Parts: sequence; C-alpha cells; structure tokens
Amino acid sequence: MLNNKKTLLSGITSTGKVTLANYIGAIKNIVALQNEYNTYVFIADLHALTLPIEPKVLEENRKNIYALLMACGVDTTKTTLFFQSDVMEHGLMNWLILTQTTIGELSRMTQFKDKSQKVRSSNGMETIPTGLLMYPTLMVGDILLYNADIIPVGIDQKQHVELTRNIVQRLNNKYKTDFKTPEPFIPKVGAKIMSLTEPTKKMSKSDINPKSSIYLLDDPNEAYKKIIKAVTDSEGKIYLSDEKPGIKNLLTIHSVLKNEDILKTESYFKNKNYGELKEEVAILVKNFLIDIQAKYKITINQVDQESKMGAQKARIIANQNLTKLMKGIGLNNESK
Ligand code: TYM
Repeated sequence: MLNNKKTLLSGITSTGKVTLANYIGAIKNIVALQNEYNTYVFIADLHALTLPIEPKVLEENRKNIYALLMACGVDTTKTTLFFQSDVMEHGLMNWLILTQTTIGELSRMTQFKDKSQKVRSSNGMETIPTGLLMYPTLMVGDILLYNADIIPVGIDQKQHVELTRNIVQRLNNKYKTDFKTPEPFIPKVGAKIMSLTEPTKKMSKSDINPKSSIYLLDDPNEAYKKIIKAVTDSEGKIYLSDEKPGIKNLLTIHSVLKNEDILKTESYFKNKNYGELKEEVAILVKNFLIDIQAKYKITINQVDQESKMGAQKARIIANQNLTKLMKGIGLNNESK
C-alpha cells in the first residue's frame, strides 16, 4: 500500500477456540488501530502445527477464527486478513531467520520453556517437538515479511517481539537491509487475562479445563455461569491488588468490555459484594457474546471469498520483503 501510514501486524494461532483473553489482549486493539495503520492480520495456522493437532480440528479452528475476527470488527476493507499458510513466503522466511539464530537463544524463550515442560509432564517423555523451539523464528519471519512497525499482542508475546527487534538489528548490520524495528503494543489494562478457575495462571485457549476460559463461541448462558463460578478469594472486599488475582481479573474484564477506566470500575464496585460484581461481569460477557455470535453467523459464510482476497494482497508485500532479505543474503542472480 502506497501511503504514509505505518504498518501493523498481528496473528492468532489456530490451536484452539478464540477466547475472551485473545479479544482483550489483541483483537480489540487491532480493531481500534486498523484505521490508523496499514493493517495485516493472519490466522497463524503454521504455528498451530507446533503441537499435535487433528486435521479436522485445525480446519475448523482456522475458519472459526477468521470469521470471529471479522465478527469482532476486523474490517476487510481496511485490514488484510489472511491465513498464514496461504502465503508460502512464511515458510522460506522462517528458514532464513532460523539460520540467523542460535539454539541457546531459542531455548531461552519463556514460552518454549513452559510449553516443553508441559509436553514432558504430560507424556513423561523427553521428546520435545522441534516446532516448539522454532516457533519464535516463524513469528519473527511473520513480522519481517510485512516490515511491521507495531505489533498488538498480550504480554505473553512480548519476548518474541523483543527477539524480532534483536534479529532486525542483526540483519540490518550484517546484510545492510532496512527492516524496521517493531514495537509491541500491549494494552495497559488486560495484557494478561487470567484463568477463571486458577486465577494465578493466564487464560489460555489450550487449557484442558473449558471452565477456565470464556470462548467467543461459548453458549452465552454457559459463559454467564462460568463467570458466576469464577474463583476469587475469601476476603469479601473489592479492590485492585495483585494479591487478589481473581477479583482483579473480573474488574479488568468489566472495565475493558465497558470501555471504562479501571479505577472508575474499582470505585464503582467498592461497596458491593462479590456476588454483585460477578453478576454484572457475567451479564456484560453474556451480552458481548450474543452480539459477536450474531455477527459470526454472517461472517462465517464470507471466509472463503475474503481469505482468497486477503492472501492475494498479503503475498505482494510478503514477496517484496522476502526478496529484499534474499538479495541481502546473496540469494539472487541479479547483480546489486
Ligand atoms: P495466541 O494465539 O496465543 O494469542 C493471540 C493473542 O492473544 C493474546 N493473549 C492474551 N492476551 C491477554 N491475556 C491472555 N491470557 C492472553 N492469551 C493470549 C496473545 O498475546 C496474542 O496477542 N504467537 C502468537 C501468534 C502470532 C503472532 C505472530 C502475533 C504468530 N505470529 C506475529 C503477532 C505477530 C500466538 O500464539 O498468539
């Protein structure tokens, strides 16, 4: 796109169903920023292969996520919305980036340590899929292919964006390329939405307990019940504190869905009890899901057509940036 706007890029992995945490941590900000930036958003279906996944499940997840992003307000007349695997450049870029990293650098990534630990404890084996280790290089490649300035993500992805920043410096020094150094865009409120059943853990679409998360395609009445049953604490007083993760989480969800300052939310609930807080949050969440799901019924029929157009647009810029790096590295026939 030839204009003076900066570029925004973000992705959602199709390992599971989209959660309210994905909405609050990233999607809401993408929607808010898409007018200001050349915006590229994709379903990270290649990232979804880093852990075993049934083909049918993957097929369903990726389509649902595409439609949900549109239902949440990602507007395909403003945003290039596509499937990562539709743009072949992601695979080759990943290899190029991989050759610029060390095993030490990748194995120090917190998410790699957490996920590989989980794999070990679930199957008792020492076998860790290679894809888990290479996950960040694929992500660095995603960002470089669109030469993005800003990356809206939750706090859990910050380290991967920092790795991207280091690799950009490395490439620009070594190969005299001019890739931009991306900035993470992390919301001040809602950067880490917590599990409803274990509020010291983050809410995650791969959590095996479905009660821990609100999925955007949950039955709204079931979602209501999940909030009513959310684990809190026994103090009985409502205020913001890291010592009270369950209450802080409910206040955060309320504040974000109402578009209200979190301190205002805190003072509104100051003299109320936990039951009243849960009831108000549960109703907000229920109504939010009813609204999204009504839109989803329409957008799910638009995925095939929209994703083809998205991929076509994405390929153009991805190819330009891939070619730039290939030339820098020496993988070209034309003289410089
Ligand atoms: P993923 O699919 O795990 O999550 C999608 C987005 O949701 C955010 N998020 C959260 N935010 C707040 N609270 C939480 N509990 C929470 N859980 C998840 C994530 O931070 C993310 O922004 N690797 C990425 C996808 C990706 C990507 C990229 C993102 C692939 N390539 C390039 C940005 C740029 C991921 O797995 O996100």
